[in-house]
Amino acid sequence: MPSIEPQATPIDFSQYLSRESKERKRSQLKELRPYFVIPGMISFGVGIPHPSTWPVNGMTLSVPFAGKSVFVPGFGSQSPSDMYPLAEYQDPAKGDALRPDLGEELQYSSTYGTPHLLSWIKEHIQRVHNPQYDDWVNLCTAGNTDGVDGVLRACFDRGDYMLVEEFAYPGTLSPATTMGIRCLGVPMDTDGVDPKALDDMMMNWDEAEKGGPRPKMIVIVPTCSNPAGVTTPVQRKREIYSACRKWNLLICEDDPYCFLQIRPNGADSPIVPSFLSMDTDGRVIRIDSFSKIVAPGSRLGFITGHKTLVEKIMNTRESATQCPSGFSIAAITAILRAWGSHEGFERNYIPYISDIYAKRCLSAIRFLKEHVPAETIEIPAPAGGMFLWVRFKIESHPSFPAEDPETISKQIFHSMIEQKVLMCPSEYFKAPSTTQWTKEEEAKRIFVRLSFSLPPQEEMEEGIKRMGRALAKEWRLSA
Ligand SMILES: Cc1ncc(COP(=O)(O)O)c(C=O)c1O
Repeated sequence: MPSIEPQATPIDFSQYLSRESKERKRSQLKELRPYFVIPGMISFGVGIPHPSTWPVNGMTLSVPFAGKSVFVPGFGSQSPSDMYPLAEYQDPAKGDALRPDLGEELQYSSTYGTPHLLSWIKEHIQRVHNPQYDDWVNLCTAGNTDGVDGVLRACFDRGDYMLVEEFAYPGTLSPATTMGIRCLGVPMDTDGVDPKALDDMMMNWDEAEKGGPRPKMIVIVPTCSNPAGVTTPVQRKREIYSACRKWNLLICEDDPYCFLQIRPNGADSPIVPSFLSMDTDGRVIRIDSFSKIVAPGSRLGFITGHKTLVEKIMNTRESATQCPSGFSIAAITAILRAWGSHEGFERNYIPYISDIYAKRCLSAIRFLKEHVPAETIEIPAPAGGMFLWVRFKIESHPSFPAEDPETISKQIFHSMIEQKVLMCPSEYFKAPSTTQWTKEEEAKRIFVRLSFSLPPQEEMEEGIKRMGRALAKEWRLSA
């Protein structure tokens, strides 16, 4: 037997990597990382929930082998004495959907999920979306990232085309590109994807020139979208659905901010109807997540769609995540039960959590109006969620038209960094496009994504004051 030499033998790991690994595109947002660590930087760069919004602030686990229960602290609870009193335990009724039981939940389950949560999800979908056909089913996922991954793997081959929004969520754009899917952005306006532009793209599709057939799917974030903060109104959704039917496109409705939308008629009024709610054909694959309404670390979500497609998506998860996390399912079903199932969730909890984000959204808009010169930005209407998509009025910037709009946008970004305020430039979200914009049109398509979910109120105001100073300097306005 040859002996192993004590010196390390260098390995060239690239020889072991798959094509997918070598071609992996990381989200451009990672480029913002160096700016996060600059001391004193106020960041509106990441759209993540504040831990104070999580509906659990501690837990106790009973551990038989240790012979004791252990306390896990959470945001705002440091010791078991901060825990709320234990509710009297009542055996759930037989027909009760929410019957979390670790005896069942911690076992390997069906990839679709466990019966308790699945029956709650089914009723939830019926109550909120009421699909217009019968053959729909649900599949639990580890959140929307996992759900979209399953959809891409089930439906696409390398080289296939897929439509996304003109400014798209990088968490979809980057993995799709890595999988060799050719993404194309559909132009948007303040109501979301433009159905006329979608129809034109499909109508003018030249297979020889494009090197492939028309796309088979469009991925849309229909509510409080990331990055554009847009909620697509129902009439616009109908027009998009109708264009998709004309061109036989599937719609992947990635909707994690669904319940954070501001409802103009009050928190008790219905949400904007979803694509799923108008789907008669089974062409919508709807993806929901508990990340924004419970906590991102729960890694739990669910897909709703036609049983044939969902089965194919389930097959991709079977060999990836195997089944959803039983701890997560147990915790979330217990939380839903404590809230009062559907009634408590819809009537009490959702108005409470969406109000937190609505107030933050309105504060950010107020500060923009107060502290940023009106000559420099266009402020969007409040939609809720976590993002405001603020347009820079590049057409009135002193360097325009001598400089091109993206160069000016980069310059503005650096001026904001100098003032120690961080937001995401729209270039980071731009999908490849077939649309030819003139320089003047380009100048009207430069934005920053301002995430208002994380900074405390005073920091938010100070950050927006800094933005105002940077823009006043850029536009050479006197103080
Ligand atoms: C549009 C969109 N889709 C998906 C996700 C990821 O959600 P999840 O935590 O459920 O994977 C996000 C989160 O930032 C998002 O903005």
